[in-house]
Amino acid sequence: MPGGYAMSMQTETIAALGSLRASRRADACSNTRILGPACLGNPSGARRTRETHMPHTIALIGGTGPEGRGLATRFALAGHRVIIGSRDAERGVAAGTELAATLGRTNVEGAGNDTAAAEADIIVVVVPYSAHRATLEGLRAQIAGKILVDAVVPMVFDRGPRPVDVPAGSATEEAAEILKDDNVRVIGAFHNLSAEVLLEPDVPLNADVLVTGADAEAKQVVMALAGEIAGVRGVDAGPLRFSRFVEDITILLVGINGRYKAHAGVHIAGLDH
Ligand SMILES: NC(=O)c1ccc[n+]([C@@H]2O[C@H](COP(=O)([O-])OP(=O)(O)OC[C@H]3O[C@@H](n4cnc5c(N)ncnc54)[C@H](OP(=O)(O)O)[C@@H]3O)[C@@H](O)[C@H]2O)c1
Repeated sequence: MPGGYAMSMQTETIAALGSLRASRRADACSNTRILGPACLGNPSGARRTRETHMPHTIALIGGTGPEGRGLATRFALAGHRVIIGSRDAERGVAAGTELAATLGRTNVEGAGNDTAAAEADIIVVVVPYSAHRATLEGLRAQIAGKILVDAVVPMVFDRGPRPVDVPAGSATEEAAEILKDDNVRVIGAFHNLSAEVLLEPDVPLNADVLVTGADAEAKQVVMALAGEIAGVRGVDAGPLRFSRFVEDITILLVGINGRYKAHAGVHIAGLDH
């Protein structure tokens, strides 16, 4: 099912680990000036303040696919400069131009993966796992010194979704291993958000983004970024070694969504206090 994993929020009671009530979350957020992460995913987006919004230039590596275009849609709506990357610069430009026209915005463009990565301060990798290592190895110079967000799920479809064994433990840990000499802060995030819903700009997601990584500051940056997507809350899911669990949840969701013809994501219960 390469065209999209069909993971949206229609069946939160099925796939959700728990659910935060929007109203309670809004109350929790209303008395604070500097918003904490639990406040950043307010479904209306109304609580986002200037304190939390730092405009970034974000490159989507492999951004011509549904997940890349979906994340590009949401990051653009949040006011960031977004560059859709492709192995073929013309394809990247075409995808960027099309999305900018669809959204009626000028903060979306396209380029080759190398140019996109060179221009960005946050680089999100959204290629198939089979292309993960080669893609990162080829962009080491452009990624050096920056934040790399890995959203790649090591999985294949073989009579249903199946995990791919990753010697490093997870795709995110593999990225950290590949880039260990390049001063890159590697963060795992966005694995559990369905491209199909991300691509619908008017649909709030009502989901958590589980964020893993070794660098606390970079993790906060990515959690804030996640929280700027309507209906999304960034949750600190721990160190890099927990990335495997986050990546594998996607496989569970794909299976559930296939059975229920749904687009479910995850909620972590009990964090709204
Ligand atoms: N789809 C979802 O709902 C979803 C949800 C969560 C996570 N993810 C993860 O996000 C990633 C992207 O998902 P997707 O559905 O958007 O994937 P996709 O459409 O299969 O691939 C995304 C892009 O990767 C590039 N690509 C393909 N093969 C490549 C190769 N051999 N080498 C380098 N680049 C290659 C292509 O861009 P160019 O040809 O333009 O270079 C393609 O448009 C995957 O790792 C997936 O597990 C997907």
